[in-house]
Amino acid sequence: MKRKVTKAIFPVAGLGTRFLPATKSVPKEIMTLVDRPLIQYAIDECRAAGIEEFIFVTSRGKSALEDYFDSSPVLEAELQRKGKDKLLKVLEETYVDSGGIAYIRQQKALGLGHAVWCARRLIGDEPFAVVLPDDVIAAEKPCLQQMVEAYAETGGNMVAAMEVPQDKTSAYGVLDVRQDMGNLVSVKGMVEKPKAEDAPSNLAVIGRYILTPKIMDNLNQGKQGAGGEIQLTDAIADEIDGEGVFGLRFRGQRFDCGSKAGFLQATVAFGLARDDLRDEFSQYLREMTAIDSAAQ
Ligand code: G1P
Repeated sequence: MKRKVTKAIFPVAGLGTRFLPATKSVPKEIMTLVDRPLIQYAIDECRAAGIEEFIFVTSRGKSALEDYFDSSPVLEAELQRKGKDKLLKVLEETYVDSGGIAYIRQQKALGLGHAVWCARRLIGDEPFAVVLPDDVIAAEKPCLQQMVEAYAETGGNMVAAMEVPQDKTSAYGVLDVRQDMGNLVSVKGMVEKPKAEDAPSNLAVIGRYILTPKIMDNLNQGKQGAGGEIQLTDAIADEIDGEGVFGLRFRGQRFDCGSKAGFLQATVAFGLARDDLRDEFSQYLREMTAIDSAAQ
């Protein structure tokens, strides 16, 4: 029987240099989309998928992340005193029980595969999820939940997949499809960041994975891949003829919050999706668009 997926790894050790100077003192994962940090969206998505244990692979300078998930007695007492029940409820969603969350330091920036490998002892012999919080996915049914459901049918390893323009393949892991079953594809090859002319397809890996513990064994070998880094893509590709690899074309819209343009797009989309902001914000956007087209 396939084991339930209850653990997720968040590789969050990166320096976030694309968002300097903000990331000089604020971890990228704490940057806010409307009023919630990026990492909160990732945690909520995991909870919806049945994840109970959260493993953060961090680095120096990320202590704000630990504080974020901790209780905040002074703030709570103050809100209680003022009878601000709604805000207390908002805070509640940010707490993770002691024991439900672990922080591991990645001491050398050797790549995504290495970051995941740093959590191997906490994973043991269970399947696990990997979530890259930069990839924010707006979906009716959260993406990881879609994957957990698909994984219950397929077993093996599963990656989230999405068609990207051919000239963008060099920013992604790219799938070589063995069999296309619509939402689900079985995979016969995986390449990390291929040039457009070398890409086996334009079906790219997005930052959600459900992996077997065998991936940790593969990462043990410490093989260097694209860019001289230890790549998660390579460790997964090693299971193509082993436990199998599947891609799920998830239903939802993905935003690349690792880029400034993507972050801004997500801000607009998530702002417009909010009942408390929609009217005012869409009015503003209409005015801006009118000014912009008048100027042209
Ligand atoms: C990572 C993975 C890549 C994947 C991408 C999704 O790359 O290595 O395979 O397609 O995330 O966002 P990164 O964006 O960290 O360079």
